[in-house]
Amino acid sequence: MDLAELHAIAERERARRKAVRVLCCTSSGCQASRSLELFHQLEAAVTATGQDEAVEVASVGCMGFCGQGPMVRVEPANLLFERVRPEQAPEIIAALAGQPCSVERGDPNHPFFTRQMHVVRRNGGIIDPERIEEYIAAGGYEALYRVLHDFSPAEVIQEITRSGLRGRGGAGYPTGLKWATVAKSPGERKFVVCNGDEGDPGAFMDRSILESDPHLVLEGMAIAAYAVGAHEGYIFVRGEYPLAIQRLNRAINQARKLGLLGSQIFETAFDFKVEIRVGAGAFVCGEETALIASIEGRRGQPRPRPPYPAEKGLWGFPTLINNVETFANIVPIIENGADWYAAIGTEKSKGTKVFALTGKVRNTGLIEVPMGMTLREIVEDLGGGSPDGTPVKAVQTGGPSGGCIPARLFDTPVDYESLAAAGSIMGSGGMVVMDDHTSMVEIARFYMAFCMDESCGKCVPCRVGTVQMHRLLSKIAAGQATPVDLEQLEQLCRLVRETSLCGLGQSAPNPVLSTLRYFREEYEALLREDAAASANGKP
Ligand SMILES: Cc1cc2nc3c(=O)[nH]c(=O)nc-3n(C[C@H](O)[C@H](O)[C@H](O)COP(=O)(O)O)c2cc1C
Ligand code: SF4
Repeated sequence: MDLAELHAIAERERARRKAVRVLCCTSSGCQASRSLELFHQLEAAVTATGQDEAVEVASVGCMGFCGQGPMVRVEPANLLFERVRPEQAPEIIAALAGQPCSVERGDPNHPFFTRQMHVVRRNGGIIDPERIEEYIAAGGYEALYRVLHDFSPAEVIQEITRSGLRGRGGAGYPTGLKWATVAKSPGERKFVVCNGDEGDPGAFMDRSILESDPHLVLEGMAIAAYAVGAHEGYIFVRGEYPLAIQRLNRAINQARKLGLLGSQIFETAFDFKVEIRVGAGAFVCGEETALIASIEGRRGQPRPRPPYPAEKGLWGFPTLINNVETFANIVPIIENGADWYAAIGTEKSKGTKVFALTGKVRNTGLIEVPMGMTLREIVEDLGGGSPDGTPVKAVQTGGPSGGCIPARLFDTPVDYESLAAAGSIMGSGGMVVMDDHTSMVEIARFYMAFCMDESCGKCVPCRVGTVQMHRLLSKIAAGQATPVDLEQLEQLCRLVRETSLCGLGQSAPNPVLSTLRYFREEYEALLREDAAASANGKP
């Protein structure tokens, strides 16, 4: 495969396209609302009305507005249909020929769409993720070609460093710096690992990227492998994501057949092969050292760091671990340049971020916005506020490792530093909106129950501490607790945070601490009055 052949595939694909494309989302969310059936009905309706010559129906990835699914878009007319039922397919196809149509129309100019900026989701809902030709027609694999022919590995790392990209897996570690560390770590073999474990409740960003545009992630991994000197890669995906696994498998096979993965890629000396590893769906397996243990076939438990995987990772060799969204950012950066990327976002948080907007919000789904957009803009403009007009009270960011930010701080820009200053974290991108009916003690209890269940049990502070914190939260929620219990809860939070072995235990107290910080009165209102009186030394 050379550049001319790549361009020929793109040309053939463009020539194959029909004048009208009916794009039907077949990602997990829409499939759960019968979109596969809808897709087949749309195809049948095109044939039945004799429009095969002019109209094609394409199975595409996520369009983002998951709460309104199944979604159908018609190009180039830019028509949007929402909550479409399979039996409505003939009506949509008849509408293309000018017939009246009663199917619920979406507004393509809704702020939910217009306020977004698509960098990693640019192909989502536009291309068929199961056809590599569509990815190539959208410019796919040209960045890899350019990197292999025009860039030295050091130049690639320099470009990623200059872009300011930080890891999207939670901690926001500078990607260029991590790549440079792996590149200079000595090792006979090196590995690139894509972390697609995504265990946070409410998060489905990585699943959507893998389902909607698997080649974007594969191409990003290949570029990373060239930069750090690796020839083998793994994608770790949780078993609960069967569609992502299926589409990734297909993408890997297609890329291999075209010589875009494997040996002597683009007729250079660069070899890179990728394999999928399916996880059993344990939250802790997303922690990088546990993930490595899991790929090695051992029990997925974290180990102390250092040594970091960049120096001693898979089977003791230098290993680059990045998140799905991090890898999905690589191709756009190479295509458009580091300066372009660095101009998006804030001073210390560059680029865009994909969030899964859920909870008590009118418009739920996936959004990709430039860093620095405020929580208010996200919740009110894109999200449309609460569905029934009840005032929004807080937003939980960062999943079990994050915290709740109250509505009065909604002018906080969404960037790594500002969210941390507000007592939460960016995390991988889950955003759960809560309204005035939500009990913040219950929220803290929910996340603690999650951490308690997901604790791997290796170290005592986390294994025992999460159980005790959950017990105290349950006692408070049931109105059985005293101020002494609350004090004990706070002490435990500090102890578990400071003494746990890995990020799970270290961050498990965050939802409690942030709700205590902003909604302490809710905890205090639940304390037993007689107990409160006796604790104050009154009879
Ligand atoms: C308990 C726990 C779970 C994690 N789960 C994930 C995950 O599902 N996906 C992910 O990319 N990173 C997860 N991380 C962070 C990873 O350990 C690692 O920092 C990340 O994959 C690095 O990629 P990045 O630099 O691109 O962010 C988790 C960390 C902890 C402590
Ligand atoms: S902090 Fe929790 S999850 Fe992490 S090693 Fe200790 S017991 Fe396991």
